Amino acid sequence: MLERLIYRSTAAQPLGNMQLCHLLACARRANLRNGITGQLAYADGVFLQCLEGHAVALSTLWHKLLADTRHHSMELIDRQTVDQRLFGDWSLSFSSRQYRNTYNLPGFFHTDHDPVEALMEYLGLMTH
Ligand SMILES: Cc1cc2nc3c(=O)[nH]c(=O)nc-3n(C[C@H](O)[C@H](O)[C@H](O)COP(=O)(O)O)c2cc1C
Repeated sequence: MLERLIYRSTAAQPLGNMQLCHLLACARRANLRNGITGQLAYADGVFLQCLEGHAVALSTLWHKLLADTRHHSMELIDRQTVDQRLFGDWSLSFSSRQYRNTYNLPGFFHTDHDPVEALMEYLGLMTH
């Protein structure tokens, strides 16, 4: 069963550009392997992530995310069964105002607006 999971978390400490790109590259490799797609947005110490995949794969990842000390205060915003993926083209795209795409990763979007708010809006969620 295909599901979509959305959560917000707080970065434990500011990640350097290299650490962030390492996180993204590892996450993408694993997501490709596990049939997971999604988007991660980062703004001012806050992560918002949307993940799509089969229920078992998402539950496994969710437990890994909960145990990951790079972020804390995880808040599950929504988890529901869906018919289609919103991010079918991306194993994990990333949007941020702060980080630059130094390593030319595909699907790395540098934005001028708040990417967390933009993703919330795209997902049809209230921002406040
Ligand atoms: C904000 C954030 C987002 C992450 N997103 C993913 C993800 O989409 N997919 C993934 O496999 N790991 C992701 N991770 C890493 C996982 O928390 C975990 O470190 C990783 O799955 C470890 O896998 P392993 O135990 O199999 O080595 C993310 C970590 C953070 C802090």
